[in-house]
Amino acid sequence: MKPESIQKYRPFPAVVLPDRQWPDRTITHAPIWCSVDLRDGNQALPVPMSVEEKLEFFAVLCSVGFKQIEVGFPSAADTEFNFLRRLIDEDRIPEDVTIQVLVQTRDHLIRRTFEAIAGAKRAIVHIYNSTSPLQRRVTFGDATREQIRDIAIEGATLVKELVPTVPQTEIVLQYSPESFSDTELDFALECCNAVIDVWQPTPEKKMIINLPDTVQWTTPNVHADMIEWMCCHLKNRESLLVSLHTHNDRGTGTAATELGLMAGADRVEGTLFGNGERTGNLDIVNVALNMNSHGIATGLDFSDLTTLRHVYERVTRMTVGERHPYVGELVFTAFSGSHQDAIKKGLDRRDREVKEDPSIPWGVPYLTIDPQDVGRSYEAIIRINSQSGKGGIAYVLDQEHGYDLPKTMHPQVGKYIYDHADALGRELSADEIRDLFFGKFVNLESPMNLIEFELDNTAVKGEMICHVTLEVNGETMRGSGTGNGPINAFVHFLDGAGHKDFKVTDYRSHALRGGSDADSAAYVQIQDIESGRLLWGCGVDPSIEMAGLKALISAWNLQHAK
Ligand code: KIV
Ligand code: ZN
Repeated sequence: MKPESIQKYRPFPAVVLPDRQWPDRTITHAPIWCSVDLRDGNQALPVPMSVEEKLEFFAVLCSVGFKQIEVGFPSAADTEFNFLRRLIDEDRIPEDVTIQVLVQTRDHLIRRTFEAIAGAKRAIVHIYNSTSPLQRRVTFGDATREQIRDIAIEGATLVKELVPTVPQTEIVLQYSPESFSDTELDFALECCNAVIDVWQPTPEKKMIINLPDTVQWTTPNVHADMIEWMCCHLKNRESLLVSLHTHNDRGTGTAATELGLMAGADRVEGTLFGNGERTGNLDIVNVALNMNSHGIATGLDFSDLTTLRHVYERVTRMTVGERHPYVGELVFTAFSGSHQDAIKKGLDRRDREVKEDPSIPWGVPYLTIDPQDVGRSYEAIIRINSQSGKGGIAYVLDQEHGYDLPKTMHPQVGKYIYDHADALGRELSADEIRDLFFGKFVNLESPMNLIEFELDNTAVKGEMICHVTLEVNGETMRGSGTGNGPINAFVHFLDGAGHKDFKVTDYRSHALRGGSDADSAAYVQIQDIESGRLLWGCGVDPSIEMAGLKALISAWNLQHAK
């Protein structure tokens, strides 16, 4: 903002709370969760969900484990009303799930709401009226505090009268001083206490006081102070469930909720992936998985986040950002070389340690949780662009294609591939990485090409003879070599043919994971005798011996590449 713009804003007042307790608390258990996807979430959509879409979404929310679901504002529109009726009439509400309906504290809307819930087994009737000075002045035309408080009392009184009209339905009552986030605390308290007086909750039949962060005007610590202040001052606290409902205007919905829980709240309203008015409501997935990542069970199952995201994106027509915590396409992906190295080391080490002690706590650099716990595979963890390093490239070749390159081969292969990514100026796919690796290092046939290779084991015990037909720089040669193994015999043949200007310095081989024809991969490192240069080549073949020879020839071809 420009300085002249900044001048029109003011600091948000602090809460006087000298003995605040919340900073010393930690979150030890999950709150009661209430999904408001079908209300706050739906009302914020450019194209609201149809009844069929809402029915599908409701079923998904139940399957995730929500036990309280706000199903809309049935007095506001026919779609909302019809949706609720279908839930009830078609018996779609699981035994242990309580629906919640929202309504303003207005006479005819409250009456219509009670018509809508008739026949439900259990329902939370959630009434609200706006209480902040700004709303009193602007929206209600300079209404006084008393007038606003009386709106709450009248609404609460009517609700109390209507409860007996739905005898089959167990009613739980909820009140929200809407715009609590910028309401004077003493006045929010006055409104809540007035409603508590009307509804007379008991510890056995609690009511819910929801304290919405309707618009986030300030920092999460001030929100926590406000919640703690209310928890300390509300009358009959043991008969109340204090509920949070944070929005995300300052991008701190999650932090405000977490600190609000530390400040004493019992319940949290929010949506999947933070859908909702403006910048959205609290992202429940985020808070719940944050808890899981500290070893706290939440009752919500987000183990298949990708499917959940797809349903969400289809029915809401919203998109989840690539960097959205836990669910975004890129949140378990590392492009940076040093991150890739650390992740690869962490995953390898964990693989080894878990075999000895399956209860070992999670601990992999850069990954707060195991991606597999939210249904993500390791496949996309490491992606390759010009920022990537050797470790990442080796990881992709290993995880995606089954090539477990020797560690000392990583720099040679890594440099070649990321130089390519740099030149292209874009990310490389796993298949492109494999193709580049093959093109440069595997089964190279020029200038040296092996035409025929036969082993004869009839030589002296422990020795073998190889008969070779070879092409070098277009010239064919035939001959034999003797050694204690095929590679050794071939090296002796090369020596006799005047092509041994190297020594073999390293070798390894392994079966290829998942290779359809059970291929083997072999890696041979040679050292150029003249220059001392070290070069790795790779061979792939159904026979492990041939793979080794091909690896040696590939290394030789790299040594003699023009
Ligand atoms: O954000 C809000 O204040 C609300 C209320 C209706 C609870 O959604
Ligand atoms: Zn809201």
